[in-house]
Amino acid sequence: MKRIFLSICIVLLSLVMRSQGYELPSATVAYPSFHTSAMQTGNTTLPSSDIAAPFSDSTPSSSSKGPRRAPGSGHSGGTTITTPGAAIGDGLIPLLIISILYMLMKGIKRLLLNYGKNLALCVCLIVGTPMRAIEMLPTFGDIDHIHLPALIVQHADGDQTLQLRAQDTTYIDHAQYKETVIATKDLVQPFFVTIHVRQWKNVPITETWYEISHTEKKPVRLQRFDSGYLPLENGDLYLVHLHGNWAGEAVPTVERLTRGIKTIRNSDGARNAHLDAPEVMISLDGVPQENSGRVLGAALCWSGNFEIRVAATDEKGFHFYAGIDPMASEYILSPKQTFTTPHLAYTYSNEGMGGVSRAFHRWARTCGMMHNGNAIRSILLNSWEGIYFDITEERIIAMMNDIAAFGGELFVMDDGWFGGKYQRNSDDAALGDWIVDTRKLPNGLEALTQAAKDRHIRFGIWIEPESTNTLSELYEQHPEWVLQERGRELKLGRGGTQLVLDMTNPKVQDFVFNMVDDLLTKHPEIAYIKWDANASIQNCGSTYLSRDKQSNLYIDYHLGLVKTLERIRAKYPDVVIQNCASGGGRANYGLMPYFDEFWVSDNNDALQRVYIQWGTSYFFPSNAMAQHIGGSPYLMTGRTTPIKFRCDVAMSGRLGMELQPAHMTDEERAQCTTAFKDYKELRELIQLGNLYRLVSPFEPVPVVEQQQVASLMYVNDAKDHAVLFAYGLTSFMKQASRRIRLAGLDPDRTYSLRERNVRHGEQPCALDGQSFTGAYLMSVGLDIPLSTEYAIDYPSRVIELTNN
Ligand code: GLA
Repeated sequence: MKRIFLSICIVLLSLVMRSQGYELPSATVAYPSFHTSAMQTGNTTLPSSDIAAPFSDSTPSSSSKGPRRAPGSGHSGGTTITTPGAAIGDGLIPLLIISILYMLMKGIKRLLLNYGKNLALCVCLIVGTPMRAIEMLPTFGDIDHIHLPALIVQHADGDQTLQLRAQDTTYIDHAQYKETVIATKDLVQPFFVTIHVRQWKNVPITETWYEISHTEKKPVRLQRFDSGYLPLENGDLYLVHLHGNWAGEAVPTVERLTRGIKTIRNSDGARNAHLDAPEVMISLDGVPQENSGRVLGAALCWSGNFEIRVAATDEKGFHFYAGIDPMASEYILSPKQTFTTPHLAYTYSNEGMGGVSRAFHRWARTCGMMHNGNAIRSILLNSWEGIYFDITEERIIAMMNDIAAFGGELFVMDDGWFGGKYQRNSDDAALGDWIVDTRKLPNGLEALTQAAKDRHIRFGIWIEPESTNTLSELYEQHPEWVLQERGRELKLGRGGTQLVLDMTNPKVQDFVFNMVDDLLTKHPEIAYIKWDANASIQNCGSTYLSRDKQSNLYIDYHLGLVKTLERIRAKYPDVVIQNCASGGGRANYGLMPYFDEFWVSDNNDALQRVYIQWGTSYFFPSNAMAQHIGGSPYLMTGRTTPIKFRCDVAMSGRLGMELQPAHMTDEERAQCTTAFKDYKELRELIQLGNLYRLVSPFEPVPVVEQQQVASLMYVNDAKDHAVLFAYGLTSFMKQASRRIRLAGLDPDRTYSLRERNVRHGEQPCALDGQSFTGAYLMSVGLDIPLSTEYAIDYPSRVIELTNN
């Protein structure tokens, strides 16, 4: 009876609202984005009561019966995922009214009274359909048997049930964000969870996380502790996640979500971006499109093991969960200790995957999610692929001469510079012995930093602080500092000797901090550090953690690492630090707040880099992506690529080079000099601009008939300056060229075109000097001359667009 009455109310209400010009929300993409600005006045604490209605209390009607928006017709739910510029009235008001009706129907008037003016919070808890209340945090023991919990704990007395109810709510109006903090407590046990929801003001990103604590008599076992939960509407949902491996990172994997549970996880222990990475997108409108369609993005800000799940356990919708992987990772939480889950960042765009990427990029640069996010990055030469471990003072200084001559700004000495009793001539020895190997560098680092100064470039150095080798003085002195399983044989990593240090141990944290501190104190000229991590956690045991807390290791390792990085950053805010882990193994937002950039891949083959960089750009901004011009033929793949192509591929991110300049031809040298000069003029646009991916290298085309290309562009905020990169991936004679439609421009402005990094010895292409309106460029597009009468392998163009 009640349901019939409610249905009539909703139909009437929808008719009234449509007549008033309101679109009813689809009301199913449900994470609160809290457009509460109109309702709050600084920090307010409000009383509350039973706000968390369990699933089981609210399943009588199917979400599919709720009011819907046509796909693609705008943001998906009134109060839900943030869309840029969405206002409070854009759907929140209808949802509020429906929610009020619902609550009245259910006789929960007390809820309204308790929340007073902060109705938005009620709505946050009653998103989904008007008839279905969904918890912000589903817990084991408080939801029905169909749904999955995001939080499972075993209390000190063995009880496994958790029924959280709100205690009070605080609103924080910070200059950069709004935050809602909901303090909850279990109905029976002295167990507390504080729910945080932070909404950034300058970018449509909402972060959620939980703080978990208790005052039970003994430790509580946290058995699952996700960072966020989000119910999603039924529909033709597609999941996009990055899968890859060492030297083949970030392959976008797109798959339809079906009934059952889809899990993405990583259990490397120390790194989490090789194989599967902790960021995903979910298209709500079928196969995801680059510049259209409703897409949700989520990034778990964590550097350790994670698990992301999308569950469709019944016919009513999908449920998204993301958090630390609970496998072998029950967290033993002592009384009065607080466990804070990693932040989970969400965004929502109706501009397709591109919109999601641009939101993450802006958030990374402006919300502290990468170090010095808005700083312009320097052009560097890294020694690794040029000379590997064969470091000598003479070779290093010769490389400095070369990078300075090209117009570069920084030289980085990679692996091989350290070692005492054990020399670092290969990957099997000396990690941990961070003393200069004077057999290779008789005049120490001083001679190198002075040489850099003399050449007006800066100096950087490689370290791998979290590891050692069995062949090292460090391991001889402190065998107890490596991760190890008591009484079992050590499993050895790279070089057959590598071991991971126990970052849960404060003495090891001090060792790592002091090593970096000594290096930077003795050599204040060091401007850049490459921080590598080439080992997984294979020995899952700690001599520091007590026996009953061994399962805290996977988590405490990363907390120890972050604590150490925080100490380093507090003392050295200006040193550029690159995040490297056998290439892109640590490209994640757990660590990026402490790093300026990351090494995208150990695979520096320009062709494969087009693909790897494409996938990586789904979540990470260009100024974080270290892209180096490599040698040709390339050592790993044997592929020969022209220097112009290698430069153009590297120029689309943070440009550098990684080869032996002594082996370069005059043509290669001339092209690099041009590339560096042009890059300096374009780099603000490239490093800080808005990325539009135009043609995907993953897009299949009938080769021979039509050339396979990849193309992307950057546009500045003012939309008066843009740069387009186009790469030909196949070259056949008489192949049809590919028209590329641009994006992100102002349709009403006229842009003049200029070719940059023109191929050495050639004239600019026919597009150079021409002008087109933004409307033309975006609807008709350009024929970028990539194929010629005589096919050239790997043709490429860089075209600058300027509106004066
Ligand atoms: C890892 C890095 C490389 C290089 C080597 C040095 O593989 O990814 O770039 O620094 O270590 O050993």
